[in-house]
Formats: sequence, C-alpha cells, structure tokens
Amino acid sequence: MRLLERIGWGVAVLVLLTCRAQADDAHCDDSIITIQNQRDATAIENCTTISGQLVLDSSISGSIVLSGVERINGPLTSQGTKQLVSFSAHDLRTVGGELQFANATILTTLNFQNLRSVEKLTLSNLPSLQKLDLAAPLQSASSVALSNTNLSTVTKGLGVRTVDVLNVTNNPNLANLSMPLFNVTESMLIAGNNNNMMNLSLPNLEWAFAMNVTNCSVVNMPSLSTVNETLSWVHNPIPLLSFPNLTAVAGVLDIEGSYWLNSLSMPKLTIIEEDFIIKDNPNLHNISGLQSLNSTSSINFEGNFSSVELPSLATVYEYLIIESTSSDLNCTFFQRFKDQSLTNWTCTGDVSNSTIGMGSGDSSDSGSHSSGLSSGAKAGIAVGVVVFVAILAVGIFFFVRRKTRYSPVAHEKGDDKEHTEVHGGHRSYEQSVALELDGQDKADQKPKKPVELTGSTMAHELEA
Ligand SMILES: *[C@@H]1O[C@H](CO)[C@@H](O)[C@H](O)[C@H]1NC(C)=O
Ligand SMILES: *[C@@H]1O[C@H](CO)[C@@H](O)[C@H](O)[C@H]1NC(C)=O
Ligand SMILES: *[C@@H]1O[C@H](CO)[C@@H](O)[C@H](O)[C@H]1NC(C)=O
Ligand SMILES: *[C@@H]1O[C@H](CO)[C@@H](O)[C@H](O)[C@H]1NC(C)=O
Ligand SMILES: *[C@@H]1O[C@H](CO)[C@@H](O)[C@H](O)[C@H]1NC(C)=O
Ligand SMILES: *[C@@H]1O[C@H](CO)[C@@H](O)[C@H](O)[C@H]1NC(C)=O
Ligand SMILES: *[C@@H]1O[C@H](CO)[C@@H](O)[C@H](O)[C@H]1NC(C)=O
Ligand SMILES: *[C@@H]1O[C@H](CO)[C@@H](O)[C@H](O)[C@H]1NC(C)=O
Ligand SMILES: *[C@@H]1O[C@H](CO)[C@@H](O)[C@H](O)[C@H]1NC(C)=O
Ligand SMILES: *[C@@H]1O[C@H](CO)[C@@H](O)[C@H](O)[C@H]1NC(C)=O
Ligand SMILES: *[C@@H]1O[C@H](CO)[C@@H](O)[C@H](O)[C@H]1NC(C)=O
Ligand SMILES: *[C@@H]1O[C@H](CO)[C@@H](O)[C@H](O)[C@H]1NC(C)=O
Repeated sequence: MRLLERIGWGVAVLVLLTCRAQADDAHCDDSIITIQNQRDATAIENCTTISGQLVLDSSISGSIVLSGVERINGPLTSQGTKQLVSFSAHDLRTVGGELQFANATILTTLNFQNLRSVEKLTLSNLPSLQKLDLAAPLQSASSVALSNTNLSTVTKGLGVRTVDVLNVTNNPNLANLSMPLFNVTESMLIAGNNNNMMNLSLPNLEWAFAMNVTNCSVVNMPSLSTVNETLSWVHNPIPLLSFPNLTAVAGVLDIEGSYWLNSLSMPKLTIIEEDFIIKDNPNLHNISGLQSLNSTSSINFEGNFSSVELPSLATVYEYLIIESTSSDLNCTFFQRFKDQSLTNWTCTGDVSNSTIGMGSGDSSDSGSHSSGLSSGAKAGIAVGVVVFVAILAVGIFFFVRRKTRYSPVAHEKGDDKEHTEVHGGHRSYEQSVALELDGQDKADQKPKKPVELTGSTMAHELEA
C-alpha cells in the first residue's frame, strides 16, 4: 500500500515536472492529497483551492509551511505525526471539512492566521502545543474541541458566535478562555483545565442546550438566560455561583462537589423543568438567592445547610428530598408540598421534627430505623464516629498541608483580583476534597460529616 502510494506520488512529481500547468490542475483536484515533507507542501502552492482532502502523513517532520492554499473543500487532517514541530497554513481561509490535529508529541506551533471558517476544529493530544495563531479570527465552526494541549490562551482567536459543540478539557496551562459566543446548540463541556483553575468568560452567551462547567475558578456568564437541558456545575473552586440573567433550566440543574461554594445567586431563575440537585458543597450553609424559583420537577438537596429559602416555590411535580446534617434546618415551609402527591417527600434536619419521611402510600418515618438501636449501640456508633472524624481530620490536615506547601505556583496563576486571596488554597482544597469525596462515594455515605468537619477546620488553618 505504502509502496504503491510512493510510486503514485513519484509519477505525480514526474508529470508535474514535465507538464506543470496540467499537473497542477490534476493535483489540486485530487480527492486526497498527502504531504510528507516541505517539498510536497511547496508543490501545491499554486492550488488556491484544494477540492478534496489534505492529509499530513504521519512521517512528516520538522516545520512545514503551506503557502498559497486559501481553501480546502474537504478536511485537513494530521494524526500521529510524532516528528512534526510546527505547521503554518498562513493563507488558508476556509476548511470545508474538519481541521484535525491529533496525537503529535512535539508539535509546538500551529499558524492559521487567516482562517475564518472550518466545519470542525479538533485539536487533541498535542502535549507540546503552545501557540495556536487564529488571528483572523475564526468566525465559523460547528464544533470546537481542544483537549490535552499545552495552550495557555486562545482568547483572541476563537471568534465564533455559535457552535454545536464546545469541548475544552484537560489543557494544563489554559488559564483563560474567553469567547464572544451567543449560543451553543448541543453541548458545552469545560473541565480539567489549568490544574482545575481556569477563568471562563462567555459574556454574550445567551443560551446553551447543555452545559457542564467543571474546575473553573472564575466564571462570567452575565447574559445566560436559558439552558435547554442539563446545567452541571461541578468542582468549581468559586465561592459564588452567579447567573444573573438565567430564567429557565429546561432540564436538570446540578450543583455538586464545589468545596468553596458558599452562596448562590440566580435571582431570575423561575423554572427548572427536571431535577434540582445540590449536594457535596460543604460550605454552602444557606441555600438562598433563588427568590424567583416557582416550579421544579423535583428537589434533591443533600448537605449540611442550615436553611433553604425558596420563597416563590409553588409547585414540585415529582419528589422533594431535602436531607441536611444540620440540626437547624427548619422544614416547616416544605410541609405544603406534601399535598402535591409526590412520589417521595423527605425533609430531615429540623430539631423539633427531627426526621420526617413520606413515600407514596408510605407515611412511615424514614429515620425510624435509628430509633430501633439500643442506647449501647448508639454510644458505640457515636464513639466510632468521633474516632473516625479525628483520624480523618489528622490525615487530611497533613495531606492538605503538604500539598499547599509544595504548590506555591497556585498564587501566580490567578488573574482575577477578586479571588486571588484564596487562590493559594483553592487548588489543594479542591483536589483534596475531590479525592475525599470520590473515595467516599465508593465506600459509604456515612463519612460525609467527618469530611465536612475536617474541611472547615482546614479552611481556618490555611487562612491563618
Ligand atoms: C507557482 O506559480 C508561480 C508563478 O506562476 C511559479 O513561479 C511557481 O514555480 C509555481 N509553483 C509550482 C510549485 O508550480
Ligand atoms: C490518538 O491516540 C489515541 C491513543 O493512542 C487513540 O486512541 C486515538 O484514536 C488517536 N486519535 C487519533 C485521531 O488518531
Ligand atoms: C508547556 O508550556 C510551558 C510554558 O507555558 C512550558 O514550560 C512547558 O515546558 C511546556 N510543556 C511541554 C510538554 O511542552
Ligand atoms: C445562534 O447564534 C447565531 C449567531 O448569533 C444566530 O445566527 C443563530 O440564529 C442562533 N441560533 C439560534 C437557534 O438561536
Ligand atoms: C465532547 O465531549 C463529550 C463528553 O466528553 C464527548 O462525548 C464528545 O465526543 C466530545 N465532542 C468532541 C467534538 O470532541
Ligand atoms: C460533568 O463533568 C464532570 C467532570 O468531567 C463529570 O463527572 C460529570 O459526569 C459531567 N456531567 C454531565 C452531566 O455530563
Ligand atoms: C438580561 O436579560 C434581559 C431581558 O431578557 C436583557 O434585556 C438584558 O440585556 C440581559 N442582560 C445581559 C447582561 O445580557
Ligand atoms: C433553547 O432555548 C432558547 C431560548 O429559549 C431557544 O431560543 C432555543 O431555540 C432553544 N434551543 C433548542 C435547541 O431547543
Ligand atoms: C408560579 O406557579 C404557579 C403554579 O404553577 C402558577 O400558577 C403561577 O402563575 C406561577 N407564577 C409565576 C410568576 O410564574
Ligand atoms: C420554622 O419556621 C416557621 C415559619 O416558617 C416558624 O413558625 C417555626 O417557629 C420555625 N421552627 C423552628 C424550630 O424554628
Ligand atoms: C412538625 O411537623 C408537624 C407535622 O408533620 C407540623 O404540624 C409541625 O408544625 C412541625 N413543627 C415544626 C416546628 O416545624
Ligand atoms: C425517599 O427518599 C429518601 C432519601 O433518598 C429515601 O431514603 C427513601 O427510601 C425514599 N422513600 C421512598 C418511599 O422512596
């Protein structure tokens, strides 16, 4: 196959040499043009338009400059080019297919300074990629996916207003992502960038079909008004979750595992059509800032919050489960939803009504199992829990101490003034807490309290 390809290519060069103009035309119109070296790239310099696909052969090496080509009707692909260092297609304006670079270990620079439109832009597993020049900027792409690159910024080049898919994941140096996007018609996933400390700014984004924001240390989406499906907010080291213009989540709203989260602000949010989930946010003591929320399919809150304020809540369609370890939680307000024929109504935490549970046709106390225990067993459990808490606290204390000491860079990374003062701690907390929560999920639900306790002890320790 390879031999045939080479022979074919040799013939093409011969033809090119003997009858240049004709060969040019033939070459530009080939359904696949493969380039293996700079000579091949130069050979197509007079092809203003390539009608098929352009492939960088995996044997290509060094720095390649593709001049003259302004349009590729098909895709431009480069996969597994282990020796490619840089690629420049500085005249290229349009790629009708996917522009894909994947699995290139030492690729450092990509120059597409005049590129305005691609069908899809996919850059993945490019651990050395530090420079992506999209100065034009890029204005049209149905999908943008950047993962496992060494890019530190792409702020200027991604000028797209609408995409179907936006995936930006696991780029260890990507500290800022800012785009003028208006809408995301399928999904957006932002996770694992800049050691879980990325600044995400989408000032114009009005709606997204589905959105998963994970590991961001600053999130700015002042215009977001609708999420048509799920909105996930996971492991974000930010104290305030703010979506000032969000009015509807036509699917699930999931706020999870965000250690630093202490307040919510979604003043215009009126409806959540599916589940409203809040869990594993140990510093979220008051669930409030949702003053307009009028209806939701179900509520599923777990944590150590002492109050839940949903003053406008009028309708819950499926179930309501609010479980807090705080004895201050007052469930009185939620009594009214018992009448709405829910499949499950559970609100625990209230001192006077310490545990209330009611299933469909099952009015038994969901906490009654504990009253079946003897006082000896209770004492045993209490002692066990105390010892466990102590051991866990000491363990996490040293773990976190060590992590903070060895990660001084965290401070330099943050650009955001508002949050700089806590940046140093964010990273190690978020990570240590994430580890703890992960381990805990697999094992048992019980150690939740110890983690929360030790977590807050740590917070004081670090701030000091
Ligand atoms: C492209 O066109 C220019 C000007 O006609 C010519 O000098 C050059 O040799 C051509 N390049 C190739 C590879 O045919
Ligand atoms: C890149 O490499 C990974 C692992 O070797 C492989 O699974 C993946 O298919 C490759 N991607 C492309 C586009 O070649
Ligand atoms: C990634 O970029 C940083 C600078 O931003 C550099 O220090 C590091 O060596 C790069 N890593 C690789 C694998 O190129
Ligand atoms: C998404 O935004 C683009 C650019 O502003 C706009 O042209 C398009 O109509 C929008 N799509 C929808 C479905 O609103
Ligand atoms: C985007 O991420 C999702 C979830 O990881 C994945 O299923 C999807 O294939 C990705 N899309 C692209 C274009 O990379
Ligand atoms: C959101 O991303 C996190 C981290 O990648 C993942 O664990 C979670 O399952 C995602 N959620 C959804 C709804 O895709
Ligand atoms: C918020 O929504 C209102 C009404 O939809 C709109 O007029 C306003 O411009 C939006 N604000 C921002 C910052 O997008
Ligand atoms: C998502 O919601 C927005 C605002 O309500 C709407 O304009 C858009 O058409 C919806 N998109 C889809 C794909 O349903
Ligand atoms: C709130 O919900 C109730 C019952 O579903 C409805 O009658 C009322 O109009 C809603 N109010 C607002 C402001 O949406
Ligand atoms: C719970 O809240 C209600 C008002 O919503 C109040 O009347 C009641 O006294 C509160 N219970 C406790 C124990 O604070
Ligand atoms: C305790 O629950 C009962 C009924 O379940 C209710 O009538 C009472 O008001 C509740 N007490 C408090 C203080 O919330
Ligand atoms: C209601 O939900 C609680 C908490 O998840 C669970 O313990 C209980 O078994 C559920 N009750 C019914 C009847 O499903």
